[in-house]
Amino acid sequence: MNHKTLGIIGGTGWLGRAIAEALLDSGFIAAQRLLISNRSGASPFGPQVRLSADNQQLVAQSDVVLLSIRPEQLPELQINASGKLLISLVAGVPAATLKAATGADTVVRAMPNAAVEIRQSFTPWYSAEPLSEADHSLVQRLFDCVGAADQVPTEDCIDYLGAVSGTGPAYPAMLFEALVSQAVAAGIPEHIARKAAHGVVVGGGQMLAHQDPRRMIEALMGYRGVTAAALQSMADQGFETILGRALQAGAEVARRGM
Ligand SMILES: NC(=O)c1ccc[n+]([C@@H]2O[C@H](COP(=O)([O-])OP(=O)(O)OC[C@H]3O[C@@H](n4cnc5c(N)ncnc54)[C@H](OP(=O)(O)O)[C@@H]3O)[C@@H](O)[C@H]2O)c1
Repeated sequence: MNHKTLGIIGGTGWLGRAIAEALLDSGFIAAQRLLISNRSGASPFGPQVRLSADNQQLVAQSDVVLLSIRPEQLPELQINASGKLLISLVAGVPAATLKAATGADTVVRAMPNAAVEIRQSFTPWYSAEPLSEADHSLVQRLFDCVGAADQVPTEDCIDYLGAVSGTGPAYPAMLFEALVSQAVAAGIPEHIARKAAHGVVVGGGQMLAHQDPRRMIEALMGYRGVTAAALQSMADQGFETILGRALQAGAEVARRGM
């Protein structure tokens, strides 16, 4: 970040802390240029990362402010971020609301997910105003430190993608548990069912890191065997429709706010 200072409000939470650790580890920012705030005063970082309970003090000392508190904690946040670039991770709060509440010159909304922990988050981000080349590069590189990132063209993309990539491990976890409970109901011992589901969700996920999912489906359908019958049954029963409704239900919550 060259000579800029970054302040993370909520920098000891799940997302804020994982992002801060990645930024330090990758050398994106030096510890002396990172400020963290929270209410409890507890910090997992060394003394070089300054911790404050005073959000306005953090804002005053920062060039860029990353907001990583929960939506319901937002009303108690009283900051004047005039002249600053504010990057908000808060789901369901529009850029215009954040701008009006904080006075920030520029508000970027970003939607990482829990995979920031393993630095494999996909983070879409949106800016209502055109960004300078330097700010554009800063936002992109910041989120590249925790995985991959892309600027999206509309704010609604952020709300919709909150229900897609923002959910992180939620859908695989649900698939995992559904596979287990169905296998157990069909008479498979639970410890075996769990290993089988692990092979599908974790092993299968790792394979897809290197292979095209569409080609994978085509290849497996080509065998016209067990897997093809199961996939066809899911398709016939409206798997995509069910998923589409789930994504819309999540996006609706993000659009109307929490
Ligand atoms: N977790 C996800 O997978 C995910 C995905 C996409 C987006 N998000 C968004 O990311 C944001 C953070 O989520 P999270 O899961 O990291 O939440 P979290 O673990 O609860 O972290 C919230 C942090 O904010 C601090 N905090 C709360 N009120 C504060 C205040 N007034 N001033 C300063 N610090 C304050 C808390 O510390 P103290 O209690 O010590 O104050 C805590 O460190 C949320 O808005 C969420 O919508 C999360």
